[in-house]
Amino acid sequence: MTVPTPIGSRRSGLPAWAVGLVAFVLLVGGVYAASNLAGENPPLVGPLPSGSAPGGGAGEALAIIESAGCQGCHGQDLSGSGSFPSLIGISSGPKSENLVSLAEEEPDNWIHLWIAGTDERTSDPAMRAGMPAFATDPYNLSDAQIDTVVEYLKTLQ
Ligand code: HEC
Repeated sequence: MTVPTPIGSRRSGLPAWAVGLVAFVLLVGGVYAASNLAGENPPLVGPLPSGSAPGGGAGEALAIIESAGCQGCHGQDLSGSGSFPSLIGISSGPKSENLVSLAEEEPDNWIHLWIAGTDERTSDPAMRAGMPAFATDPYNLSDAQIDTVVEYLKTLQ
């Protein structure tokens, strides 16, 4: 038989973990705001590594990359950020384990297929891990635009 806890013995107010969480969030937020004021955090969109896509497409590639927001995940200079892989040196193969078999099956086309994200081998949300499928809404990059980006990425060493 369960004995109900008498009302009087229940703790009132927020549980200790909630107080701790609020204190932690305020601390982290404060440190972030302070370092921002001190100018330590670079702007999200900044200079990209220079590279020259064949046919002089680098400028166009950079414009597509900036408007698609690739840097928001892959880092300001595309050299990776946190768990997001670097896009430097991609011509020698994927850094993500998830993409190894695709790259083996489609050695010349895997980067295009991955960015587009419409192929049955690249559209699984678990595999994409948050990376949008750029050939679909709201990005709707054309095959030609994706090719321009791929040619540029392949020049990054
Ligand atoms: C919301 C975050 C996000 C954005 C925005 C994003 N990506 Fe990604 N990208 C990822 C993640 C996560 C992976 C790794 C997926 C995995 O391991 O399954 C990845 C992997 C890649 C890879 C494979 C890298 C490797 O070596 O394995 C390429 C190429 C790539 N992204 C290109 C791009 C391009 C080009 C853009 C912009 C058009 C872009 N990404 C925008 C999250 C993002």
